[in-house]
Amino acid sequence: MSQRTMEAHYKPNWNLTQAHGLSGYNCGYAASPKCGTFDEHQKALVWQLLHDTPVGPGSTVLDVGCGIGGPSGWIMDRFNPARIISLEYCWSSVRAAHDRAAERERRPQFVQGDAQSLPLADNSVDVIFNLESALHYPDKKTFIQECRRVLKPGGYLCLGDITTRYKRLFALAGLMNRLPTQFNSNVRLWSVDDYELAFAATGLTALHHENASWKVADSLADGLAEVRARGLKSAGGYRARYFYLAVLEKLLRSGKLQYDLFQVCKPAA
Ligand SMILES: C[S@@+](CC[C@H](N)C(=O)[O-])C[C@H]1O[C@@H](n2cnc3c(N)ncnc32)[C@H](O)[C@@H]1O
Repeated sequence: MSQRTMEAHYKPNWNLTQAHGLSGYNCGYAASPKCGTFDEHQKALVWQLLHDTPVGPGSTVLDVGCGIGGPSGWIMDRFNPARIISLEYCWSSVRAAHDRAAERERRPQFVQGDAQSLPLADNSVDVIFNLESALHYPDKKTFIQECRRVLKPGGYLCLGDITTRYKRLFALAGLMNRLPTQFNSNVRLWSVDDYELAFAATGLTALHHENASWKVADSLADGLAEVRARGLKSAGGYRARYFYLAVLEKLLRSGKLQYDLFQVCKPAA
């Protein structure tokens, strides 16, 4: 997928974050309905995905598909790891992440790159964080192999993604990938089984899995209510994305789509 297409896909998200003071592009996680703001839900999803993964002052963290850098910054503030490398495909997002972090005392290192070819040495990373980005990768197997390569023995991969058991149905949605800009779904979904098989085939050990679909749907419901409270008429730059997210909420509740959080590790040598 070209960078231009991906940038066009994320332009409404950028407009949404600007209008609502958000720092993330993810769907968020609400432990219970209406328990907080959408911004709080986006942070909660980061903590939920990390689960009990050990991150500390000695850790090197790689955030793959970091968007405009919100989650990387939150991880830095909470755990103060030695280093966070935050990789993102779209140059516009890399630049935005960099600018948004300008005031920080310590900043993640924002770099442009492709998840399917990680620009890092073998055995160099303690924790890979990958939130709601893999749905876009045409070659997820290569991405998972790359994760194994760059992880240190005993290192963790925390991967949160939208999945489906109805791949044939959503292959139809894949036809929308031929359409321009915001009507291009830009997604290629895997099932939970696809992920579990790929982890095992790559020699990664599954530690924890959560089907977070309803918590994510509750978060989206809160986020959509925030948009409505501001007035959908003023939402020129992201009106269509509002409807896209409203459909996603319904599909998550119906079970046609799922939102899964995986924690796996590379066995210690
Ligand atoms: C839904 S956003 C999530 C961003 C961020 N993880 C967050 O939670 O705010 C998905 C991100 O993945 C990025 N992305 C898509 N394909 C990528 C690739 N091949 N390599 C790296 N990043 C990619 C997109 O540009 C987008 O910023």
